[in-house]
Amino acid sequence: MHVSPVLAAQATYPFVRIEQAKRETAAAGIEIFDFGQGDPREPTDPLIRQALVDALGETRGYPKAEGLPELREAVAGWLERRFGVAVDPGSEIVPTYGSKEAIFSFAQVVVDRDLGKDTVLVTEPGYPVPERGALFAGARVVHVPLLEENGFLPDLDAVDQNDLSRTAIFWLNYPNNPTAAVAPLELYERVAELARAHDFLLASDEAYSELWFTEPPPSALQVADRTNVVVFNTLSKRSSMTGYRSGFVAGPRWVMDALRQYRPTVGTAPQEFVQRASVVAWGDEEHVTRAREVYGRKREVLLGALDALGWRVAGSEATMYLWVEVPAGESSEELAGRLLEHGIVVAPGAYLGASGEGYVRIALVPTVEDCERAAAILRGLA
Ligand SMILES: Cc1ncc(COP(=O)(O)O)c(C=O)c1O
Repeated sequence: MHVSPVLAAQATYPFVRIEQAKRETAAAGIEIFDFGQGDPREPTDPLIRQALVDALGETRGYPKAEGLPELREAVAGWLERRFGVAVDPGSEIVPTYGSKEAIFSFAQVVVDRDLGKDTVLVTEPGYPVPERGALFAGARVVHVPLLEENGFLPDLDAVDQNDLSRTAIFWLNYPNNPTAAVAPLELYERVAELARAHDFLLASDEAYSELWFTEPPPSALQVADRTNVVVFNTLSKRSSMTGYRSGFVAGPRWVMDALRQYRPTVGTAPQEFVQRASVVAWGDEEHVTRAREVYGRKREVLLGALDALGWRVAGSEATMYLWVEVPAGESSEELAGRLLEHGIVVAPGAYLGASGEGYVRIALVPTVEDCERAAAILRGLA
């Protein structure tokens, strides 16, 4: 028996470990409040659901990798309204099956080891998918830490020059999972400039761009020179559509051409009825405003309880996450274990990268009522 050595070398996907512990606690009769994984449980807007149903009769055949023109136009329209950028729906947008698969496979499309472009830079702590995708593509991965002293932004001066010259992709993810930090446009400008100087791509995963509390965060598409910038976004978080699997990649024509060439082999084009529902989702902001209000309420409830406990919240600017400092004397896994005894599931920061030790991540996914009940349990720990 043999499996890919990359697969064999991987630790269990962290959330599988959390799931196991959760099941054991539930079996012991303790009610579970699951703040572990960032899977929104808010209902998808009825308008979007209806659009999916209405589109069912029209579908036939395999969906095409380039996606429906209507969907590409809806995405371009949204990018224009939201960020004030003009992106050509004909050549600069490719719809994706959610954004995970596109993030995972991106290294396969642009890493060129023969040319010495063998390296992928990923920030940590972080979403594990860009790194795993790079490893399966045979690339070399270099971690760029996100430290609180730098506002959870990468210290670009600390990145090795040799690594930069070998880099094919530099992944950024803001608003950031798990630190909840937002990047200023200057960060994108600086990395885009480095990308042009060293001939790599800035790949910006903007899955949480719409879950903000004070001001809408910028997009890497807003930099002055987009030559080396590729943006990934999704309806999963914005429109509570994780189960639909619908996102897009936007970037320079040559990258999109490469994706259009690569993707038919993989077969990850979203189904036509999902694409038609997505047209409605990108075209409507009211449901997104409502979702933000609900996340804002949950955030207030949890922030109040954490404050009462005397636990410091290190990050809560945007996303559906709170990044909470672990009280002295405990590891992030120990704190998560202690909270689980009370039914409260959180993600230990150490599961998300070495620099995540010292923090736990709370995903604001239970209902407002459940957040209130969990907050009462948390206050009781004081
Ligand atoms: C940072 C980040 N990027 C991308 C995704 C992928 O989301 P989807 O594949 O549902 O679009 C997630 C999901 O949790 C995420 O946390």
